[in-house]
Amino acid sequence: MKQSIVLYKKIPSDLLQRLEDNFDVRFFDGINETNRAEVLAALKNADGMIGASVPVRAELLDHAPKLKAISTISVGYDQFDVGDLTQRKIVLMHTPTVLTETTADTVFTLILMTARRALEMAEMVKAGKWTRSIGSDSYGVDVHHKTIGILGMGRIGAALARRAHAGFGMNVLYWNDRPNTQVEEEFNARRCELDELLAQSDFVCITLPYSEQTHKLINAERLAKMKSSAILINGARGKIVDQAALIKALKDGTIRAAGLDVFEVEPLPADSELLQLPNVVALPHIGSATEETRYNMAACAVDNLITALTGEVTENSVNAHLLK
Ligand code: DGY
Repeated sequence: MKQSIVLYKKIPSDLLQRLEDNFDVRFFDGINETNRAEVLAALKNADGMIGASVPVRAELLDHAPKLKAISTISVGYDQFDVGDLTQRKIVLMHTPTVLTETTADTVFTLILMTARRALEMAEMVKAGKWTRSIGSDSYGVDVHHKTIGILGMGRIGAALARRAHAGFGMNVLYWNDRPNTQVEEEFNARRCELDELLAQSDFVCITLPYSEQTHKLINAERLAKMKSSAILINGARGKIVDQAALIKALKDGTIRAAGLDVFEVEPLPADSELLQLPNVVALPHIGSATEETRYNMAACAVDNLITALTGEVTENSVNAHLLK
């Protein structure tokens, strides 16, 4: 008899077929108040789960006594309590490699958009307000040959460092719990303390995972340590930044601008003060959202679930090493 799984995000049909070849699949388009009772009923018999963008915590897991594996279609796993999953002997799989380059592209998009005020300028043209040659009040700032400070030096941080160094001749600083000799040798990156990075960087880019340690890491005090000409870029997780403090810093001119793909609450409420600020570029969490990469992430997650339920996990697992 096939094992049962709950799929809680739409995936391309060929990948769904691959899941169906291996498992009995119950599909739900997300998990919400409307379908919650049905999801809980399906979880009773589920050996695995696969999906994204939904918190999967005790209130669901308590209804899933047989669950052995969860495969998230994301690199981030802040929707899960890894300690709790480990205690329940549930292996958590994720997609750490396939989205690296695309996410670094998104971060660089935010760097260029904020520095060159591309959104503001494009909106002005679209509104039919480009009536004369632009003046100094519309100038942006250069990106090339400036200093980029990268918080976190994992795969995405390194892909960002490569773009900054090789493409834009930038000076690369990074803050990480351990040295990354490869980025130091290849991209001339220098590891430094957080305070030094904040004080020296023209672009402070967050590529850290979200955790208790990184919760509101960038707060009022740290924003005040940045140059008033500096730009904050967050392509990681919204809760790493104290959003109220950021809004104040942007209004007061403590920093120049912010490029944000992630927010404390997502979707960002339409009445958020961030949206009133001309020096903010806000994107709807599109870090990995290209056709190619989202397909590759779903394919990786499908393979991960098949491996976790029918084979031996050797990669892409968050907690397999703790379950041995
Ligand atoms: C990830 O994979 O974690 C991205 O942020 C998309 O959610």
